[in-house]
Amino acid sequence: MKELDIATPIIARGYDELDDIDRALVDAAKSAIAGSYAPYSHFKVGAAILLENGVTVTGANQENVAYPSGTCAERSACFYAGARYPGVGFARIAVAAVGPDGKPTAQPTAPCGACRQSLLEYEKLSGHPVPVLLAGAEEIYILPSVASLLPLAFTEF
Ligand code: THU
Repeated sequence: MKELDIATPIIARGYDELDDIDRALVDAAKSAIAGSYAPYSHFKVGAAILLENGVTVTGANQENVAYPSGTCAERSACFYAGARYPGVGFARIAVAAVGPDGKPTAQPTAPCGACRQSLLEYEKLSGHPVPVLLAGAEEIYILPSVASLLPLAFTEF
Protein backbone atom coordinates (compact mmCIF):
# COMPACT_ATOMS: atom_id res chain seq x y z
CA MET A 1 0.00 0.00 0.00
CA LYS A 2 1.08 3.55 -0.48
CA GLU A 3 -0.49 6.83 0.36
CA LEU A 4 -0.42 9.81 -1.97
CA ASP A 5 -0.97 13.38 -0.95
CA ILE A 6 -2.08 16.19 -3.23
CA ALA A 7 -1.38 19.75 -2.17
CA THR A 8 -2.16 23.04 -3.91
CA PRO A 9 0.36 25.78 -3.15
CA ILE A 10 -1.26 29.21 -2.91
CA ILE A 11 0.38 32.59 -2.41
CA ALA A 12 -1.95 35.28 -1.06
CA ARG A 13 -0.99 38.85 -1.94
CA GLY A 14 -2.61 42.21 -1.42
CA TYR A 15 -3.51 44.13 -4.57
CA ASP A 16 -0.65 46.58 -3.92
CA GLU A 17 1.80 43.69 -3.68
CA LEU A 18 1.15 42.55 -7.25
CA ASP A 19 3.59 43.41 -10.01
CA ASP A 20 2.39 45.66 -12.83
CA ILE A 21 1.48 42.77 -15.15
CA ASP A 22 -0.60 40.96 -12.56
CA ARG A 23 -2.27 44.16 -11.35
CA ALA A 24 -3.26 45.01 -14.93
CA LEU A 25 -4.67 41.50 -15.44
CA VAL A 26 -6.70 41.65 -12.22
CA ASP A 27 -7.97 45.09 -13.29
CA ALA A 28 -8.98 43.59 -16.66
CA ALA A 29 -10.89 40.78 -14.91
CA LYS A 30 -12.66 43.33 -12.70
CA SER A 31 -13.55 45.48 -15.73
CA ALA A 32 -14.87 42.43 -17.57
CA ILE A 33 -17.53 42.03 -14.86
CA ALA A 34 -19.39 44.85 -16.65
CA GLY A 35 -20.13 42.34 -19.42
CA SER A 36 -21.71 39.79 -17.09
CA TYR A 37 -25.30 38.80 -17.84
CA ALA A 38 -26.47 37.23 -14.58
CA PRO A 39 -30.18 38.03 -14.07
CA TYR A 40 -30.76 34.67 -12.32
CA SER A 41 -27.87 34.28 -9.87
CA HIS A 42 -26.94 37.98 -9.59
CA PHE A 43 -23.38 36.70 -9.20
CA LYS A 44 -21.21 38.52 -11.72
CA VAL A 45 -17.86 37.13 -12.76
CA GLY A 46 -15.11 38.48 -15.00
CA ALA A 47 -12.09 36.61 -16.33
CA ALA A 48 -9.02 37.91 -18.13
CA ILE A 49 -6.40 35.89 -19.95
CA LEU A 50 -3.03 37.35 -20.92
CA LEU A 51 -1.94 35.61 -24.10
CA GLU A 52 1.64 35.01 -25.13
CA ASN A 53 1.21 37.50 -27.98
CA GLY A 54 0.63 40.23 -25.37
CA VAL A 55 -3.11 40.49 -26.00
CA THR A 56 -5.48 40.32 -23.03
CA VAL A 57 -8.76 38.55 -23.75
CA THR A 58 -11.67 38.86 -21.33
CA GLY A 59 -14.97 37.11 -20.69
CA ALA A 60 -17.90 37.31 -18.32
CA ASN A 61 -20.56 34.83 -17.25
CA GLN A 62 -23.59 34.62 -19.52
CA GLU A 63 -26.69 33.06 -18.02
CA ASN A 64 -29.78 31.73 -19.75
CA VAL A 65 -33.37 31.11 -18.73
CA ALA A 66 -32.63 27.44 -19.49
CA TYR A 67 -30.01 27.50 -16.72
CA PRO A 68 -27.51 24.89 -17.97
CA SER A 69 -27.28 26.73 -21.27
CA GLY A 70 -25.33 29.55 -19.68
CA THR A 71 -21.58 29.64 -19.31
CA CYS A 72 -19.02 30.91 -16.83
CA ALA A 73 -16.66 33.82 -17.26
CA GLU A 74 -13.61 31.58 -17.50
CA ARG A 75 -15.00 29.48 -20.33
CA SER A 76 -16.33 32.50 -22.19
CA ALA A 77 -12.79 33.94 -22.02
CA CYS A 78 -10.82 30.81 -22.90
CA PHE A 79 -13.13 29.78 -25.73
CA TYR A 80 -13.01 33.28 -27.15
CA ALA A 81 -9.20 33.24 -26.91
CA GLY A 82 -9.08 29.87 -28.67
CA ALA A 83 -11.42 31.02 -31.41
CA ARG A 84 -9.88 34.45 -31.95
CA TYR A 85 -6.19 33.56 -31.45
CA PRO A 86 -5.87 29.87 -32.32
CA GLY A 87 -2.52 28.36 -31.35
CA VAL A 88 -1.48 31.29 -29.14
CA GLY A 89 -0.52 30.14 -25.64
CA PHE A 90 -1.86 31.50 -22.39
CA ALA A 91 0.55 33.37 -20.08
CA ARG A 92 -1.70 33.92 -17.06
CA ILE A 93 -5.34 34.05 -16.03
CA ALA A 94 -7.22 36.26 -13.56
CA VAL A 95 -10.75 35.94 -12.15
CA ALA A 96 -12.80 38.47 -10.16
CA ALA A 97 -16.42 38.55 -9.03
CA VAL A 98 -19.13 40.77 -7.59
CA GLY A 99 -21.74 39.08 -5.38
CA PRO A 100 -25.51 39.57 -5.29
CA ASP A 101 -24.95 42.44 -2.81
CA GLY A 102 -23.15 44.31 -5.59
CA LYS A 103 -19.79 44.19 -3.78
CA PRO A 104 -16.57 42.43 -4.77
CA THR A 105 -16.60 39.01 -3.13
CA ALA A 106 -14.65 38.87 0.10
CA GLN A 107 -13.23 35.47 -0.79
CA PRO A 108 -11.40 34.87 -4.06
CA THR A 109 -13.73 33.22 -6.60
CA ALA A 110 -12.37 29.95 -7.93
CA PRO A 111 -13.35 28.38 -11.27
CA CYS A 112 -15.93 25.59 -11.27
CA GLY A 113 -14.92 22.08 -12.24
CA ALA A 114 -15.96 22.41 -15.86
CA CYS A 115 -13.92 25.60 -16.23
CA ARG A 116 -10.90 23.96 -14.62
CA GLN A 117 -11.11 21.16 -17.16
CA SER A 118 -11.46 23.60 -20.07
CA LEU A 119 -8.64 25.84 -18.88
CA LEU A 120 -6.43 22.81 -18.32
CA GLU A 121 -6.63 21.91 -21.98
CA TYR A 122 -5.39 25.37 -22.97
CA GLU A 123 -2.64 25.12 -20.37
CA LYS A 124 -1.54 21.85 -21.94
CA LEU A 125 -1.62 23.41 -25.40
CA SER A 126 0.44 26.33 -24.04
CA GLY A 127 3.19 23.87 -23.10
CA HIS A 128 3.93 25.30 -19.66
CA PRO A 129 2.20 26.06 -16.36
CA VAL A 130 -0.21 28.99 -16.56
CA PRO A 131 -0.50 30.87 -13.24
CA VAL A 132 -4.02 31.66 -12.04
CA LEU A 133 -4.90 34.76 -10.02
CA LEU A 134 -8.14 34.64 -8.03
CA ALA A 135 -9.13 38.06 -6.78
CA GLY A 136 -11.01 38.63 -3.52
CA ALA A 137 -11.75 41.99 -1.97
CA GLU A 138 -8.74 41.84 0.36
CA GLU A 139 -6.44 39.24 -1.11
CA ILE A 140 -5.48 37.78 -4.45
CA TYR A 141 -4.71 34.07 -4.43
CA ILE A 142 -1.97 33.15 -6.88
CA LEU A 143 -1.78 29.53 -7.97
CA PRO A 144 1.16 28.23 -9.98
CA SER A 145 -0.91 26.52 -12.67
CA VAL A 146 -4.36 25.38 -13.78
CA ALA A 147 -3.21 21.80 -13.08
CA SER A 148 -2.74 22.71 -9.42
CA LEU A 149 -6.48 23.53 -9.35
CA LEU A 150 -7.43 20.22 -10.91
CA PRO A 151 -5.36 17.39 -9.49
CA LEU A 152 -5.84 13.91 -10.98
CA ALA A 153 -7.31 15.47 -14.10
CA PHE A 154 -8.31 13.60 -17.22
CA THR A 155 -5.71 14.68 -19.76
CA GLU A 156 -5.62 11.93 -22.35
CA PHE A 157 -5.75 13.67 -25.69
N1 THU B 1 -19.53 31.55 -12.31
C1 THU B 1 -18.51 31.94 -13.12
O1 THU B 1 -18.72 32.59 -14.16
N2 THU B 1 -17.25 31.63 -12.75
C2 THU B 1 -16.91 31.04 -11.58
O2 THU B 1 -15.74 30.88 -11.30
C3 THU B 1 -17.96 30.60 -10.65
C4 THU B 1 -19.35 30.77 -11.11
C5 THU B 1 -20.89 31.95 -12.69
C6 THU B 1 -21.82 30.87 -13.15
C7 THU B 1 -23.17 31.51 -12.85
O3 THU B 1 -23.51 32.41 -13.91
C8 THU B 1 -22.90 32.34 -11.62
O4 THU B 1 -21.50 32.54 -11.56
C9 THU B 1 -23.38 31.71 -10.33
O5 THU B 1 -22.87 30.43 -10.18
